[in-house]
Amino acid sequence: MKIGLLGYGVVGSGVGKIIDDGLTWEVRELEVARILVKDESELKDPRMTLSADEILNDPEIDVIVECMGGLEPAHTYVRKALENGKYVVTSNKKMLASYCSELFDIARKNNVTVHYEAACGGGIPWMASLDRTRRVDDIISFRGIFNGTTNYILERMSKEHSSFADKLKEAQELGYAERDPSDDIDGYDVRSKVSLSCVKAFDTVQNTEDITTFGIRTISEADLQYCEDHGLACKLLGNGEFHHSCISAYVIPVFLGKEDVFANIPLNFNAIESNSLTLGRAMFYGQGAGSLPTAHAVVQNIVDIWKNQDPEINDKFPVSIDNSRHEGCYYIRTGKPEFFLDAAAEWISDNTLLTKKMSLQKVAGMVEQADDETLFIAEVTA
Ligand code: HSE
Repeated sequence: MKIGLLGYGVVGSGVGKIIDDGLTWEVRELEVARILVKDESELKDPRMTLSADEILNDPEIDVIVECMGGLEPAHTYVRKALENGKYVVTSNKKMLASYCSELFDIARKNNVTVHYEAACGGGIPWMASLDRTRRVDDIISFRGIFNGTTNYILERMSKEHSSFADKLKEAQELGYAERDPSDDIDGYDVRSKVSLSCVKAFDTVQNTEDITTFGIRTISEADLQYCEDHGLACKLLGNGEFHHSCISAYVIPVFLGKEDVFANIPLNFNAIESNSLTLGRAMFYGQGAGSLPTAHAVVQNIVDIWKNQDPEINDKFPVSIDNSRHEGCYYIRTGKPEFFLDAAAEWISDNTLLTKKMSLQKVAGMVEQADDETLFIAEVTA
């Protein structure tokens, strides 16, 4: 089966290597026929080209693999590939989360499918597990560490008492971070992954901007010291909860008890848990970022297409997000404590409080009103 590969960066080059190496008989059935690269300096292989049209219009190519990242031109190329009747595999969560409704419709009309295992959880078979679970069961909720960069930063900062900037630089050097690392540290990467998980888990396509999102950009050594003093670990978690008439969907740093399994997920690893009616809790753990683990997930999807094991893309339902359904207690450090007087259950210092139990929607409203760019918020679950 012939593949057109769009993008030859961290993930694309990993896909090329796995397929060219052909360790298994399934992978030896695949062939990377053409590769789109960005500029002339990258033209190092006869299969490489600077023309996307040459690949997208090539009748011999069955599958387009998009590993370019970013919204455009990735979105336009994927749309064109589907219109040309080609299957698509993408690792690009930001693009797919933004355009999945449109792209799934085009795929359905052209009798092809869109696959995105690598877009969510890197090398972990999380999307495939949701597909399998949903064949038999209803998913009640999911939660997880979906971002390797922030997990790496939080773990290294806690263990080494080192600075945020140093650890972000390391994560970039290791190839974990997004092209724009704001997507990692502000929680937007996890937001896209939560959105795609909602597609599989709850059959609903969401506007990603409706997913309440807090990141770790403003975390300080004082916040991590609080965790250390109280036997807690800080992790950035993505969450989805099904309430029949609506769902909750949110991204937030969480202070977890050290006994919580998520507290002990190291480095760039991801861990995601689903809870469903008959299976109960099931957890998936593995490398959530990096070249070969992510490329592994892409190649798994290509093999699925080759074996004709396409997951059906069911019709999606317009279920709204209602985060008043999720309640918790929150740690808030802010330069504007006067905005949180009504919410406080306990003041840790002049500018840091623990809230009473309250809805996420309410606390998010207070944070928005305070409009404090130094504010750090975490849910405390221990
Ligand atoms: N920047 C992402 C992460 C890459 O750190 O998890 C994988 O999606």
